[in-house]
Amino acid sequence: MDFFDYKNGELWCEGVKASAIAEAVGTPAYVYSRATIEHHYRQLGSAFAWAKPTICYSVKALSNLAVVKLLASMGAGFDVVSGGEIHRVLAAGGEVSKIVFAGVGKTDAEMELAAKAGIDLFTVESEPELDALEAVARELRKTLRVALRVNPGVDPKTHVYVSTGKRESKFGVDLERAGKILSRRASWPHLDFAGIHAHIGSQIVSVGPFVDALTLLAKFIADEEKAGLKLSVFDMGGGFGIFYKLREAPSAEEHAAAIRPILEPLVRSGRRILMEPGRFIAGQAGILLSRVTFVKDSGDKRFVIVDAAMNDLLRPALYHAEHQVWPVKASGRPELADESQLACADIVGPVCESGDFLARERPFPEVRRGDLIAVFAAGAYGMTMSSNYNSRPRAPEVLVEGNSFRVVRRRETFEDLTRLETT
Ligand code: LLP
Repeated sequence: MDFFDYKNGELWCEGVKASAIAEAVGTPAYVYSRATIEHHYRQLGSAFAWAKPTICYSVKALSNLAVVKLLASMGAGFDVVSGGEIHRVLAAGGEVSKIVFAGVGKTDAEMELAAKAGIDLFTVESEPELDALEAVARELRKTLRVALRVNPGVDPKTHVYVSTGKRESKFGVDLERAGKILSRRASWPHLDFAGIHAHIGSQIVSVGPFVDALTLLAKFIADEEKAGLKLSVFDMGGGFGIFYKLREAPSAEEHAAAIRPILEPLVRSGRRILMEPGRFIAGQAGILLSRVTFVKDSGDKRFVIVDAAMNDLLRPALYHAEHQVWPVKASGRPELADESQLACADIVGPVCESGDFLARERPFPEVRRGDLIAVFAAGAYGMTMSSNYNSRPRAPEVLVEGNSFRVVRRRETFEDLTRLETT
């Protein structure tokens, strides 16, 4: 579900024509729909209402201040993974007491920043990290709340780069080691072992891996409690998948229904539930607008060369992610097209790498130099993974709100590219 629709032969975002935005800010440009962000945040809230979760939006997905501010105003908490993300949440007016801080390699400086700011929870992934955090807490004369990140050893059946719950992954500690750490918790007297955290992967498009992981974790929590430890926080991480080219992800209701039998007993016995969705909230809320530079035929292939590239949207190159790509002037969304009538093309950028493609071997309508195209579901891990590779200034970000839009990050200039450098 999103608020990008074709009407009268062209693409609209809410009440604004995509072409009007391209006219105003140029291309490439990220365009976000406020209504789509709100819709997905509320959808999770209502599907999981029985768990009364704190929804800690995963800032890494789309970290623009305007989006963080919007979600803060709706009551969201935030999952962060760096000092920079803490800075963003605070700059956008997010509540510090709703921040959870994850990551395998927090530095002392980041731990200190988070502890001083007064965040809700550190999710901790190893004994050396506990030692370092204990030192920070002792120094500040504070008790810091932690949740041990447990790796349940479940295959999330997603791309290997975004699988985190398998036994061999760098994230968390296995169940056996987690038990040993908890039994030694008195060694870290300034840390309050409040709960358990798990995040098994991202873009998970079936309920099975969540059910399997939660079943193992619920048993782990029950065993720990039998041994006398009260674990009052359960942070179930993020990972809910969305529709890309394949329309295959479960809805929030389907996830909630599958998880409920396992999670509800934890809720009933008074536990606080946190979740950390990123992609589910931001993914379908964004498109990347781009303009065709050339259409080129070579060998047996057609290349549609556009002005967006792998530096703007890395996901196709890095994960072979299949985003839907379609002209802005068209009668309807690509799902409705009769593919048998279309010739295949590669949609590529100008960057000097063969890995620089937005889509490959796609049935694609005839387009010409100057036509606009849209890359869909680019809201999450789009702008946040962009770079200046090939010295390309980063694209602007535009937020559409009903019938109006505003630039929430301006396009970088050539001066921005060299501002931090000296000769
Ligand atoms: N919590 C933790 C601890 C995480 O590591 C992540 C994502 C999330 C929550 C949010 O996951 P989500 O709900 O968005 O799936 N760049 C990749 C995705 C990397 C995800 C990293 N961790 C991509 O473009 O697919």
